[in-house]
Amino acid sequence: MNLLSILQSVNLWLHLISMAVWVGGMAFFLFVFGPAAHSLAPADGIRALNHGRQSFQTLSWIAINLLFLTGVLNFLFRAAASGLHFGTAYYSILTVKLLLFLAMTFHYSLQAFKYAPRIASLTAQTGDGIESWPEPLLAAWRKWFTLLKINTTLGAIVLFLGLGLSGR
Ligand code: HEM
Repeated sequence: MNLLSILQSVNLWLHLISMAVWVGGMAFFLFVFGPAAHSLAPADGIRALNHGRQSFQTLSWIAINLLFLTGVLNFLFRAAASGLHFGTAYYSILTVKLLLFLAMTFHYSLQAFKYAPRIASLTAQTGDGIESWPEPLLAAWRKWFTLLKINTTLGAIVLFLGLGLSGR
């Protein structure tokens, strides 16, 4: 194995690990962490969900940036290896994949910059003895989770488009 193919493999693995962190993290938050936080006593659940959101957001920003960087490098390595001779399907799949990735990043920015600050401030206003989830906080979480559901679905589609690229 020459240096170029070693770097290409390392980059591809970093791409797959970043994908597993972001798309896997979304699925875990949607299907495991979210329902678990709602099964706790309201005061504990409200704090646990907000704390989990903060960790998820930090990991997601790292994964999104790594996905874009390793994705571009994936393309450049493949271009170097194939002398820029890609099948027509390669370009169309990559274009659709990039558009969906940009849509996912836009949805994620709405979660992080529009709804997260509201969730954080409403969470800070809730006392330890609270008996039920306040409606304004629930409303903000519902919007955040709706974007999470859309992104988890798009993430699965982009994953398959990625597999479609590597087979070409
Ligand atoms: C949620 C985002 C993403 C997911 C889930 C994802 C997933 C994947 C997967 C599963 C593969 C196949 C790896 C293999 O087995 O060979 C792949 C390859 C690839 N990805 Fe991504 N990817 C994402 C974002 C991106 C972005 C943003 C770019 C471009 C900037 C990109 C460019 C590529 C390229 C060029 C390949 C093909 C490598 C080759 O030619 O073999 N990906 N991706």
